[in-house]
Amino acid sequence: MNIEQYDGDREVLRPFFRLADDSEQQIDADLKRGDVLVADDDGELVGQVQVVAGRERIWELTSLAVIESRRGEGIGRLLVDAAVRHCRQQEAVRLLVATAAADIGNLRFYQRQGFRMLCIERDAFGAAAGYPDGIVIDGIPLLDRVWFDQEFSA
Ligand SMILES: CC(C)(COP(=O)(O)OP(=O)(O)OC[C@H]1O[C@@H](n2cnc3c(N)ncnc32)[C@H](O)[C@@H]1OP(=O)(O)O)[C@@H](O)C(=O)NCCC(=O)NCCS
Repeated sequence: MNIEQYDGDREVLRPFFRLADDSEQQIDADLKRGDVLVADDDGELVGQVQVVAGRERIWELTSLAVIESRRGEGIGRLLVDAAVRHCRQQEAVRLLVATAAADIGNLRFYQRQGFRMLCIERDAFGAAAGYPDGIVIDGIPLLDRVWFDQEFSA
């Protein structure tokens, strides 16, 4: 498995962005941002992660996705590790990530990768941001966003 920076046409990655986000409006805004690292298994793309630089050397990890048939093999963890290394090489001091409060699996996943909870953004997944009404994850309505961060030591 190779994790490498992606330099090709970002449209090719739209299906991966769709795995990570239910809003086409949000995907359109995100698609061309930052740097994207992909997991390449013998020529097949099986996952991706995007990292975007913000102010004061604070970066954000976004649009992490692994294709369904390859989940649970450690590829997500490899992608987050690579994203952390990439940001540190760019002299980031902190990495943010956000996920749906309704997605209990993701809340576990990010804490297992060393992130700590930072704050909750209520009603982040509304119609104004392009999210259809009525999305439910594990029986929980998709409403609020949880922000996590990870501080990098010198
Ligand atoms: C989240 C995602 C990237 C994880 O990728 P993955 O390759 O399956 O994860 P890994 O195999 O590296 O798992 C690493 C750890 O997280 C845990 N984990 C991963 N997904 C989990 C889930 N849904 N529920 C609970 N634990 C989970 C694994 O059990 C493993 O735990 P361990 O450290 O105790 O062994 C993948 O499930 C995915 O693409 N989901 C859909 C897109 C998405 O929701 N992206 C995040 C948007 S914020």
